[in-house]
Amino acid sequence: MLSQYLLPLLIPFSSFVAAQTCTSLTIPVNVSAQTSHITLPEPVDQSALTAFFINYTTPSIDYPDSIINGTRQLKAQYKIFGKLCTPKDVKPNGTLEFATHGIAFTHAYWEVGGDKSEFNYAAKAVASSHSIFYYDRLGTGASSQPDGIQDVQSTVHVEIAHALVQYLRQGKTGHTFGKVIGIGHSFGSIISVGITAKYPKDFDDVILTGFAIGDTSGLFIGVAGFGATIASELIPNLKTSNSYVVPGTPSSYQAGFLQYPNYDPAVIAAQFKIRGTATIGEFTTLAAPVVPATNFTGRVLVVTGITDSFFCGGNCAENVNGTTPPNLVAGLYPVTSNFSSYIPLDTGHGINLHFSAPTTYNLIERWIGA
Ligand SMILES: *[C@@H]1O[C@H](CO)[C@@H](O)[C@H](O)[C@H]1NC(C)=O
Ligand SMILES: *[C@@H]1O[C@H](CO)[C@@H](O)[C@H](O)[C@H]1NC(C)=O
Ligand SMILES: *[C@@H]1O[C@H](CO)[C@@H](O)[C@H](O)[C@H]1NC(C)=O
Ligand SMILES: *[C@@H]1O[C@H](CO)[C@@H](O)[C@H](O)[C@H]1NC(C)=O
Ligand SMILES: *[C@@H]1O[C@H](CO)[C@@H](O)[C@H](O)[C@H]1NC(C)=O
Ligand SMILES: *[C@@H]1O[C@H](CO)[C@@H](O)[C@H](O)[C@H]1NC(C)=O
Ligand SMILES: *[C@@H]1O[C@H](CO)[C@@H](O)[C@H](O)[C@H]1NC(C)=O
Repeated sequence: MLSQYLLPLLIPFSSFVAAQTCTSLTIPVNVSAQTSHITLPEPVDQSALTAFFINYTTPSIDYPDSIINGTRQLKAQYKIFGKLCTPKDVKPNGTLEFATHGIAFTHAYWEVGGDKSEFNYAAKAVASSHSIFYYDRLGTGASSQPDGIQDVQSTVHVEIAHALVQYLRQGKTGHTFGKVIGIGHSFGSIISVGITAKYPKDFDDVILTGFAIGDTSGLFIGVAGFGATIASELIPNLKTSNSYVVPGTPSSYQAGFLQYPNYDPAVIAAQFKIRGTATIGEFTTLAAPVVPATNFTGRVLVVTGITDSFFCGGNCAENVNGTTPPNLVAGLYPVTSNFSSYIPLDTGHGINLHFSAPTTYNLIERWIGA
């Protein structure tokens, strides 16, 4: 009885795992970016850090604006760690997905559950005959971890992503690609929007997951629930300074990313253990890349869970200006060739962590096409 249901699931799995080749890469990236000069010292301890987040989540004041004093020109070289996975029969002119993770994750967001898991997005992309490059954002995982206030900021992420796309498009990895499709999650979607606005030729099409606009209450609710805690005090072997934070407890992780009980607790426990860092510089400059992408002519797909905390204040079906927050994103793309959105039910902000993920992945891969 059981095997009747399991077999059709298991067979395609083992075959696409076998057909996948992944290479780990450490790519040196030279960055030149205009950053915000943030007039804040490193928090001396957890209480000083918490004071920052209490101010940050006071809806009536524009706290980030109050601690920015002009701009600076940053020039630096960083190491970015990423993985390039290709189908075994990779075609010279095929499609590459370029995936940027969000806050509290690393590149591992795109391979949740490991090789054989139905939550592994990269494996699904490769099974759909796409290649995929996914990486640790500056500050996270095995990438460089510079000053968390002045250097790890949103505009720097946009420049790094742009440099990586050029690297991949120029065939520096030994593979050439006909199309590059950007896909982001959450803050990774914010960075992807920044790419489409500043470098409209980088992506042929873009997929923004865990993203919406028009309900700013979500940011205050989400960040307050995040329980930001000094990362090096909770994650073994981490040497980062006090401006690097992680969600403090499994309940803060649940508040930010999950819709109870529509996920596998064992998968979540493993993800919580390897959760990624975020920095004060990122929180302070969080939304800066979100501006209209007036020259982006590619297609746009928004995929946001129905109870997304950060971007919809817990309800992506709410009415804002006659439509929903995910659909308001169309306003950022006046010349797109096609805008569409998909709202997975029974799903919170951390889309890839829910039981709905395999269905969502099928939809995304079909949307991308060949
Ligand atoms: C980055 O900068 C270094 C030192 O300035 C230089 O040697 C290197 O060629 C540059 N790399 C790229 C990819 O531009
Ligand atoms: C938080 O805001 C208060 C009141 O404006 C201010 O006195 C304090 O310095 C701020 N704390 C931090 C960490 O920015
Ligand atoms: C802001 O920058 C200007 C020019 O560098 C400087 O004179 C001023 O003291 C700074 N203000 C704060 C609050 O840091
Ligand atoms: C590669 O793909 C591009 C864009 O899809 C297309 O214009 C070009 O003709 C293709 N080249 C080859 C050699 O297939
Ligand atoms: C957008 O297109 C206009 C008109 O061609 C051009 O002047 C502008 O520089 C472009 N902006 C970007 C960011 O590509
Ligand atoms: C809602 O509509 C008003 C009036 O047209 C406009 O000023 C505002 O920017 C819109 N808000 C969003 C989030 O689109
Ligand atoms: C836009 O894309 C969606 C999803 O691929 C498709 O269903 C729809 O027909 C497209 N709309 C137009 C006007 O082409």
